[in-house]
Amino acid sequence: MPALPPSDVADLGLAESGRRRVDFAERAMPVLGLLTRRFARQRPLEGVRVAACAHVTPETAALARTLTAGGAELHLAASNPLSTQDDVAAALVVDGIAVHARYGVDRAGHAGHLQAALDARPHVLLDDGCDLVGLLHAERPDLLDGVRAGAEQTSTGVLRLRQMAAHGALRLPVAAVNDTPMQLLVANRHGTGQSTLDAVMRATGTLIAGTTVVVAGYGWCGNGIAARARGLGASVVVTEVEPRRALEAVLDGHRVLPMARAASLGDVFLTTTGDRDVLTAEHFALMKDGAVLANAGHFDVEVDVEGLLAASVAVHRRVRPHVDAYEQPDGRRLLLLAEGRLVNLAAADGHPAAVMDISFAVQALTVEWLARAELAPGVHEVPAAIDDEVARTKLAALGVELDVLTAAQERYLSTWQG
Ligand code: ADE
Repeated sequence: MPALPPSDVADLGLAESGRRRVDFAERAMPVLGLLTRRFARQRPLEGVRVAACAHVTPETAALARTLTAGGAELHLAASNPLSTQDDVAAALVVDGIAVHARYGVDRAGHAGHLQAALDARPHVLLDDGCDLVGLLHAERPDLLDGVRAGAEQTSTGVLRLRQMAAHGALRLPVAAVNDTPMQLLVANRHGTGQSTLDAVMRATGTLIAGTTVVVAGYGWCGNGIAARARGLGASVVVTEVEPRRALEAVLDGHRVLPMARAASLGDVFLTTTGDRDVLTAEHFALMKDGAVLANAGHFDVEVDVEGLLAASVAVHRRVRPHVDAYEQPDGRRLLLLAEGRLVNLAAADGHPAAVMDISFAVQALTVEWLARAELAPGVHEVPAAIDDEVARTKLAALGVELDVLTAAQERYLSTWQG
């Protein structure tokens, strides 16, 4: 048996369970499967070292199989210690992939895992939340010359990259995978929408019908969460700072209120703004007994957890898995899920495999493109042809047929003269 790659995972003995779950997820990922077979024939990533920061889930393992089938040498670090699935991490190591991820590792351990992925001197970075790109620029600039490009999966990461670029600090080309129509429409809306409600229901057992669900932020994720909450019978209140999104929420039939007014109405609060201090002491003081608080944004800054602790007279940890009850001076209990971290991955399985099929197919094709393209430092759009190919392949896999433009229709669309 070949030597295992240098890794840090919890227990290699879990590999068999991990492998079975990866195989199961792959059955819902036909687009990635087709890519894996093409990559295995063509080996477009031969000799390319890829460092990836990602949630270590069965779906990520499927992407890892695609990239390594294409010839890539992959070094994977966890994106969030609470989303790491130890059996999947073990299965990947047994398959020869270097993995640095353990469930529940502390901040220092997590930082060490990101460093370990960079130690591989990667050519391409696959990032989630700008963690690897940020670390590379801040602490490992000596490695920058060897890195051709990166790809970013999240809204939060793209926002950070654009800030870096605006301040002249970004020294790499990075493809904004998050901004592709496929990612926004499918992953952010349907993936985050379903998996966030799934996490709330699994963690609390709450009947959503008849409740008031407050959704902070009406971007693609907030939009998806609000739609799913309504579908389950909740009244939805949206809070926003951006007038066009607020108007969209109103026209979608939701009530829009400032959080200071929504706080006393909500049974469930879901933050998805990408910004800090969305739920603070001002709001905790107004909330109902039993209110559920959860964050679906990338970082754990949206619920002021320290403020919640300071406002509380006691904390009852793990009243159910992933649920901490914060007792207020007047006896109310506020239920914080997953310590305010990304709830859909910490308390559920993240986006379904059928969604990640699309996201990761876009990622894999983007890595193939980045490994060859000559791009200047900055944030780059993913070519529309990649998104288009993924959508067409997914539709074909689903057995959905499209109409085709006639020659006269093509001509009509390509002229301004009528
Ligand atoms: N991000 C959101 N859902 C995910 C999943 N299931 N696997 C990996 N990354 C994700």
